[in-house]
Amino acid sequence: MGFYLLSLSQLLSSILFLCHFQTTISSSNDSSPSHSCAHDQSLSLLQFKASFSINSSASGYCQHPKTESWKEGTDCCLWDGVTCELKTGVVTELNLACSLLYGTLHPNSTLFSLRHLRKLDLSDNHFMSSHISPQFGQFSNLTYLNLSLSVFAGQVPSEFSLLSKLVSLDLSENNNPSLEPISFDKLAQNLTQLRELRLSGVDMSLVAPDSLMNLSSSLSSLKLYSC
Ligand SMILES: *[C@@H]1O[C@H](CO)[C@@H](O)[C@H](O)[C@H]1NC(C)=O
Ligand SMILES: *[C@@H]1O[C@H](CO)[C@@H](O)[C@H](O)[C@H]1NC(C)=O
Ligand SMILES: *[C@@H]1O[C@H](CO)[C@@H](O)[C@H](O)[C@H]1NC(C)=O
Ligand SMILES: *[C@@H]1O[C@H](CO)[C@@H](O)[C@H](O)[C@H]1NC(C)=O
Ligand SMILES: *[C@@H]1O[C@H](CO)[C@@H](O)[C@H](O)[C@H]1NC(C)=O
Ligand SMILES: *[C@@H]1O[C@H](CO)[C@@H](O)[C@H](O)[C@H]1NC(C)=O
Ligand SMILES: *[C@@H]1O[C@H](CO)[C@@H](O)[C@H](O)[C@H]1NC(C)=O
Repeated sequence: MGFYLLSLSQLLSSILFLCHFQTTISSSNDSSPSHSCAHDQSLSLLQFKASFSINSSASGYCQHPKTESWKEGTDCCLWDGVTCELKTGVVTELNLACSLLYGTLHPNSTLFSLRHLRKLDLSDNHFMSSHISPQFGQFSNLTYLNLSLSVFAGQVPSEFSLLSKLVSLDLSENNNPSLEPISFDKLAQNLTQLRELRLSGVDMSLVAPDSLMNLSSSLSSLKLYSC
């Protein structure tokens, strides 16, 4: 068993090395030098990081304080949880699930200047009953948004209906946020790509069950436990 594990890990590291080697070669021949993080993106991420503390009881299901690897002067595209578009150096994915983030997510957060995001996962952190900001509606290219298990509260903003490319939306298990009928209807009308919708624990008591019929015909998974 030990032998197999060893050779498997050696094989993996050789493959990783080869991939790295190839990337280095092909990028060294590229005329555009900007394969690394765009400066404004790096700044936004660092300010976002600075607005939270790391609290070991902030994440319940797993613990991975990703922002600790975020250091000024290094390429943000290599930071834990950050994925960039190689050509432009803009951040397209941010996965901060279980990152032990503790603090309020204000509408003026620099998170919202990362306009090119396609995937955003802030699940399993502690945002201290922050209201879910209307600013989330600015992420026009977002296909995946996960805000579950993160102590968000307040109304789900009607601006969520602007996220017309969303394929997956998870707002479950927060501090009893509510979804008003008007917001739900706009969302159901405009989020036509939606395949996965999880709203467990969201107060939808005013939403008429009938209006669920207007949800995307692409929908393949719907979780409404305790709504
Ligand atoms: C490197 O760039 C040169 C000049 O643009 C080009 O002729 C050559 O094919 C490139 N080599 C590789 C391996 O991409
Ligand atoms: C850490 O989070 C818990 C709640 O999960 C809170 O009670 C505690 O005060 C926090 N500690 C610090 C140092 O902020
Ligand atoms: C963001 O808004 C909060 C709450 O209104 C405020 O306390 C904080 O100073 C603001 N931060 C910046 C950078 O403007
Ligand atoms: C959204 O995606 C389209 C198509 O890929 C792209 O042209 C556009 O620049 C993107 N917008 C933002 C804000 O990233
Ligand atoms: C959202 O995040 C939670 C916790 O990290 C995870 O269990 C869940 O599967 C995610 N939801 C989706 C739709 O991916
Ligand atoms: C629906 O989404 C589009 C963007 O694709 C946006 O322009 C429009 O305002 C949205 N409508 C509503 C009701 O939010
Ligand atoms: C579905 O949407 C249409 C168009 O907005 C609306 O007229 C209708 O009442 C909605 N149906 C339900 C069951 O909510």
